[in-house]
Amino acid sequence: AIERTISIVKPDAVGKNVIGKIYDRFESNGLKIVAAKMKHLTRDEAEGFYAIHKERPFFGELVEFMMSGPVMIQVLEGENAVAKNREIMGVTNPINADVGTIRKDFADSMSENAVHGSDSLENAQIEINYFFQPEEIFVRTRG
Ligand code: CMP
Repeated sequence: AIERTISIVKPDAVGKNVIGKIYDRFESNGLKIVAAKMKHLTRDEAEGFYAIHKERPFFGELVEFMMSGPVMIQVLEGENAVAKNREIMGVTNPINADVGTIRKDFADSMSENAVHGSDSLENAQIEINYFFQPEEIFVRTRG
């Protein structure tokens, strides 16, 4: 089915100036960018986005990292978009990420891992609503 998912190019990858290279991975794999915004997250925004991880030992580090520079946030749309985006990203720890994945090519560590992607269709909807108003998401009338 056609799905939508959230993708975030994190501050490490924005800092490396590889937004375009990462966008190419999505587009080359059949995912369309139907919404996008650059944001420098406030503490409240970063904590709210990752609220599900609040009790984890790495929560503080994760929030500080996500506030360390601007991020690029996009809604990706396409067949099986949630799983496809996760496949394109590679697993959380770049050491274990497959060859050709975003994290293998652009991530430095488990915490500075270049991209975020929604882990389920349910969370994708929550995360899309967290960052985008309905009118900020576009129907692609020309394909
Ligand atoms: P992300 O897909 O954005 O979802 C939660 C993030 O927490 C994850 O990517 C990692 O960047 C981060 N994370 C997960 N595990 C650890 C860990 N053990 N130490 C630091 N950060 C982690």
